[in-house]
Amino acid sequence: MEQEIKKGLAGVVVDTTAISKVNPETNSLLYRGYPVQELAETQPFEAVAYLLWHGELPTSDDLEHLRRTEREHRALADSVRAAIDLLPHDAHPMDEVRTAVSALGAIDLAGSGSVLDATGSAEENLARSVRLFAALPAIVAYGQRRRRGEELVEPRDDLDYAANFLWMTFGEDPDEIVIDAFNRSMVLYAEHSFNASTFTARVITSTLSDLYSAVVGAIGALKGPLHGGANEAVMHVFDEIGSAERVVPWLDAALAEKRKIMGFGHRVYKNGDSRVPTMRAALDALVAHYDRRDLADLSDALEREFMERKGIHPNLDYPSGPAYHLIGFDTPMFTPLFIASRVTGWTAHVMEQAASNALIRPLSAYDGPDERHVADLTP
Ligand code: ACO
Repeated sequence: MEQEIKKGLAGVVVDTTAISKVNPETNSLLYRGYPVQELAETQPFEAVAYLLWHGELPTSDDLEHLRRTEREHRALADSVRAAIDLLPHDAHPMDEVRTAVSALGAIDLAGSGSVLDATGSAEENLARSVRLFAALPAIVAYGQRRRRGEELVEPRDDLDYAANFLWMTFGEDPDEIVIDAFNRSMVLYAEHSFNASTFTARVITSTLSDLYSAVVGAIGALKGPLHGGANEAVMHVFDEIGSAERVVPWLDAALAEKRKIMGFGHRVYKNGDSRVPTMRAALDALVAHYDRRDLADLSDALEREFMERKGIHPNLDYPSGPAYHLIGFDTPMFTPLFIASRVTGWTAHVMEQAASNALIRPLSAYDGPDERHVADLTP
């Protein structure tokens, strides 16, 4: 019987989730029922992390408790730093962060007698999630500083998550506008149902492997330019084009070569990505703050031209790439920033998958050679 193949699992519903709802018809994205735009405009990232893990926004006591724990685990552990320092200086930061998370997992799970002990209870997995969330800013910040030949900057207890992340990266007190734009991006990137990296984390969890392994696998999936790698790729496109006047000839050539234009299109949203307007507002604030109208002009011109010709809308990576550039992050750091945010969604999914697990194991339709035998080979 002819089997129907759902290439790329497009349109396939594989499980339920209570973590987020993506509605392509209304262009909306809800985290635990709350519109992501509202959360990005009103909540610190720590509160959104709590929401994703627990299902409710934190009370002030809950938030205080999470912030205290986060501060306790902010510093870059010597052993993790040593693991990073073994890598070449020009290793891609995605590979660096993947290695650092793997090292964190090995350190945290040291002494677990068998793979069964590593799986972890719900409480253990929540504690691991908080530790990872707290540790990632130092890993990412150190990545940028190491590439630039700069010294590690120690975390500061008087700053909340977003401000401390910027402090550890740049070693300067960040401006409120910059903190707000960065916080928004962290909230907007945090969760997006069964995207490729989250699904990878769920597949790994479904084998009863541990949370760190799930996150390492998810990082591998996120690295690809069809997924998280697109925010970095957007900046390369902007560098290639150079200025707004060069958009038309550049696009003519790119489309003639059938190139995919990074930062446009989405597997689920076909009428626009609901996260874009909120991030674009943050980008506009940064453009005014840094007086970089030239970058906004280029971005507007490419979006206008591409929309006119192909009718394909920008996705979140389109405004976030230039926003991260203006804040001062080096282009290869953009996708690691996505990790620092998405780790909250990934770990929420790990816990949800573990709570009602079924091994994820789809079928395939074989289209190789018919059965044959070694003995039939002519000498
Ligand atoms: N540039 C040029 N053409 C595009 C683009 C694009 N960015 N996106 C879609 N198309 C075209 C395709 O070439 C295809 O045309 P065809 O029917 O003539 O062959 C048609 O639109 C449908 O595209 P698909 O790739 O089939 O759509 P799909 O849903 O599989 O892909 C994807 C979605 C992978 C995101 C795609 O739009 C893409 O490659 N975009 C660029 C990469 C990117 O920005 N990724 C970020 C995703 S969002 C995120 O991670 C935050």
